[in-house]
Amino acid sequence: YSHHIDDALEAKVGPHGLPQAVFDRELARATPALDKIRQWRNDGTLPLLKLPAARDDIAAIRPHAEHFRKFEHLVVFGIGGSNLGGQTLVALKDHGFGPAKGHPKIWFMDNVDPATFAEMCERLPLERTGVFAISKSGTTAETLTQLYSLLPLLEAKVGKANLAKHLLVITEPKDNVLRRTAMRLGCPVLDHDPNIGGRYSVLSLVGLLPALIAGVDVAAVREGAASVLDPVLAAKEATGLAPAVGAALSVGLAKERGVHTTVLMPYCDRLGYFGFWFRQLWAESLGKDGKGTTPVRAMGTVDQHSQLQLYLGGPADKLFTVLILDTKGQGRPIPAAELGGDKSLAYLEGQGLGDLILAEADATAATLVKNGRPTRVIRLKTLDEKVMGALMMHYMLETMFAAELWGVDAFDQPAVEEGKILTRQYLSQRRRS
Ligand code: PA5
Repeated sequence: YSHHIDDALEAKVGPHGLPQAVFDRELARATPALDKIRQWRNDGTLPLLKLPAARDDIAAIRPHAEHFRKFEHLVVFGIGGSNLGGQTLVALKDHGFGPAKGHPKIWFMDNVDPATFAEMCERLPLERTGVFAISKSGTTAETLTQLYSLLPLLEAKVGKANLAKHLLVITEPKDNVLRRTAMRLGCPVLDHDPNIGGRYSVLSLVGLLPALIAGVDVAAVREGAASVLDPVLAAKEATGLAPAVGAALSVGLAKERGVHTTVLMPYCDRLGYFGFWFRQLWAESLGKDGKGTTPVRAMGTVDQHSQLQLYLGGPADKLFTVLILDTKGQGRPIPAAELGGDKSLAYLEGQGLGDLILAEADATAATLVKNGRPTRVIRLKTLDEKVMGALMMHYMLETMFAAELWGVDAFDQPAVEEGKILTRQYLSQRRRS
């Protein structure tokens, strides 16, 4: 993939134009951040940075993938970082019309809406359904409540003796309620690395196991991640590491100029969940001590007909990243003869859907730049596992660099924890008699 900070950020003038000299000066500040990230990798503080090169752990999860692949459906209970990475990778194979042939349909059940849950229980053939419960802490109320709500129904269908064959748990290797539940049920429990935070866990078994079951080439995902990480770790100084460092700097500099919203707009359905994954990563890692920018997930072309008016005509407080996949020549070209001789449709002659979505993406990026909106364009020649891994690593690095430059801890989430504690308190106080 190639990354380009477009004219609006490089401009010498304009509402958010950043003079190159300012950008270069800031870039020098990134070298200490790079050193820190490198140190975290080398001393093992950040095992996530060792994952792109790891292989043995994939071999270890393969037998579980083989077992669960035999089910018709797989329900994954887990929320936030225990959900979005896997869901994003699985979307490479299933983005609306069902799984690849021979693979189960995977249902990521993050929300706890009782109506959705009831529908799931009613519609899924539980006797042909596997169930994962993923929670790093093993204490998250949503995940536990869903699991405990389903267990009796599942047992009624498959029998006590077979229950464990339908279940798998991923949680930290320490005592917690989810682990105790798994031990009691006798189902497999896989360890969630305690030093990898939920939203950074996509390259670990948390993201890779569901992906493997869906038929994703997970080794290629890691290979793609390594292709972005390795040059960053090998670089002597931050200067010249344009993608991850430059991107973090540009967001910070734009923020100083009143740009508080970061919009990610992929023109590709398979990147729809990537937008949600990015949104969590960015918000939960950087939104601290009054800092951070608000991430917005938009979709091209849909949001051209919904949000673009605001993006262009509303407050100039947003930075845009347009993710453009080269779809030129894709889709059936519409022959002139099928256009009924209508001259106003001449622009469609010989063009297909791929040409249309590409033209729309280019047009959006160009319009944003023309209107002085700070815009980055990431161009993807193709979208496969390697590219997805590269993109994810790029954004994890960009987030870490931004955190270092802004002076926040990218890896904690005190506000989220506060919400979890309060939820449990409220539930205890409001116990049904
Ligand atoms: O990234 C994070 O830390 C959070 O989004 C968690 O993943 C989320 O709150 C779920 O936590 P747990 O995996 O402990 O159930």
